[in-house]
Amino acid sequence: MFADLSPADQAKYVAAKRAVELVEDGMKLGLGTGSTAAWMVRCLAERVKTEGLRIQGVPTSTRTADLARDLGLEVVTLDQTGHLDITIDGTDEFDSVLSLIKGGGGALLQEKIVASASDQMIVIADFDKHVPQLGKFPLPVEVLGFGLASSRDHIARLLADHGLAGRDITMRMQDDTPFVTDEGNFILDLHLEHIPDAPALAIVLNQVPGVVENGLFINICDRVILGASDGRIEEHLRP
Ligand code: A5P
Repeated sequence: MFADLSPADQAKYVAAKRAVELVEDGMKLGLGTGSTAAWMVRCLAERVKTEGLRIQGVPTSTRTADLARDLGLEVVTLDQTGHLDITIDGTDEFDSVLSLIKGGGGALLQEKIVASASDQMIVIADFDKHVPQLGKFPLPVEVLGFGLASSRDHIARLLADHGLAGRDITMRMQDDTPFVTDEGNFILDLHLEHIPDAPALAIVLNQVPGVVENGLFINICDRVILGASDGRIEEHLRP
């Protein structure tokens, strides 16, 4: 099976498999969203099938919930579990202190809630996701539909105050219509190129009334597991 995968999927599979090895019987898990997290769900399902591993999973999107159920995992809500042992999720970027940009798949709100309710967040990724400074990947910000133009202007002013004047802010689209999140909100992508002070930006963005959440994950991720198509694994712990 492994040899049939593309190099990109081989790298994701290697990272996902390693992370799933850390799961113990009886654990309550947060199940991330995205193509790397989908490999984690498949690896978990494999352990459930072959070893009889008992786990409960809280998905971070409807598509992860669908995949997990299809593969026979027990899917529960965060309100049922209250607290989680580990969340395993992908990322769009991470830096040397394991700050992340997430939300490329539009699931950042549930991802942040679920990761924050977990004893440990493990991120799985390929080596390309490691960056010296966050910001090349457009920063997703989930916003309410009400007053959207006003929220966008507010964000633009706030960016200018943080040395990021004139950066593009684009509406996330799906085909020809705005992308709608699982919570019925919209996503603005901030094309920042670099973020000089990610912790500060994460705080001020959430002070805009129409902002529901932003894709900066600060002091949430505990460990990053990187996989490569040649089977190489590298692990980073939050300093
Ligand atoms: C989903 O909203 C995102 O946070 C994903 O976890 C992130 O975009 C990584 O996705 P891939 O694993 O598909 O690169």
